[in-house]
Amino acid sequence: MVLLAIETSCDETAAAVVEDKVWVRSNVVLSQTKLHEPFGGIVPEIASRKQMEFIAPVVQQAMAQAGVDWRNLDAIAVTNRPGLIGSLVVGVSFAKAIAFAHSLPLIPVNHLEGHLFSVFLQEKESQEAWSFPFLCLLVSGGHTELIWAKGVGDYEVLGQTRDDAAGEAFDKVARALGLGFPGGPAIDRASEGGDPNAVAFPRADLTPTLDFSFAGLKTAVVRYLKGFEERLKRKPNPTLADIAASFQEAVVDMLLTNLVRAAEATNAERVAVVGGVAANRRLRQKLLALAEQKRWQLALPALKWCTDNAAMIGCAASFRLEQGLAQSDLFCDAFATADLK
Ligand code: KG4
Ligand code: ZN
Repeated sequence: MVLLAIETSCDETAAAVVEDKVWVRSNVVLSQTKLHEPFGGIVPEIASRKQMEFIAPVVQQAMAQAGVDWRNLDAIAVTNRPGLIGSLVVGVSFAKAIAFAHSLPLIPVNHLEGHLFSVFLQEKESQEAWSFPFLCLLVSGGHTELIWAKGVGDYEVLGQTRDDAAGEAFDKVARALGLGFPGGPAIDRASEGGDPNAVAFPRADLTPTLDFSFAGLKTAVVRYLKGFEERLKRKPNPTLADIAASFQEAVVDMLLTNLVRAAEATNAERVAVVGGVAANRRLRQKLLALAEQKRWQLALPALKWCTDNAAMIGCAASFRLEQGLAQSDLFCDAFATADLK
């Protein structure tokens, strides 16, 4: 089974060819980050216009790199929810057009389910295959969720953020620190050499639930910065690296505390961390140590599978098709908001 997948839910134009559910034959991602940088965040109007400009060449490139023709494809998969509506509509319309023109089934995919399946992606024979059930921490720019994934299409959301997503907190705090956009990678870099215990930022604890909250932490950093000039005169004076590292530590601590509690509640043996924030080096470092201590089988996808890509969308669609859980829908709509179902 060979699928062409298209992902345009935000500011990345992505296309991939996936074979036999997990094998990535090609994966093309064109990021618009540079275009949005001057505005300090994603401008939806620019994002959708650029999606329209880039979509055809990106799809052509993915097909060429995989060495496939339309005749080799079994289906087209496309992200249709959740995301920036203008961006989604471009991918969905384009996918409909090519599915119609080449008489191929069109499979709409939930972006969150795509992230969940990023742990199954393979490039080399040597990679260990992943399997259900597993506990998944999904941390991206728009979502922070703990999911007990029992099987294809069988997901239980155990906890989620009550305010900002983890990636959103990184982006907002980076702006407050003058580190630019996107904030996650900027804070990751700025934290290098910083002391993660320099500033005792608060950790929200929503026990007995497994929910998260990052808004208070963000406000705490902003308030701390207001007295920054004054504090610089005092000893010891935290550097920008110290503040960035302390904020990052607070986010990582909150994520891992709930992950451990969720693993205990589910008796999970397999744990996966996916989404853009899973690219964070401190999170990855602490996770590896934790997995060893708890004897979890840990899936931490390669960085290119953590951030938005189309291969994960093709993978999710393939698993659904195999299980008879996906139907072609040339009339499918796009939705800005959607839960994982
Ligand atoms: O999954 P993703 O590419 O897009 C969404 O579906 O949202 O995630 C993007 C988010 C952004 O908020 C970005 O700042 C964050 O992931 N991110 C990081 C890192 N790389 C990307 N956050 C922390 N550390 C990183 N290294
Ligand atoms: Zn995403």
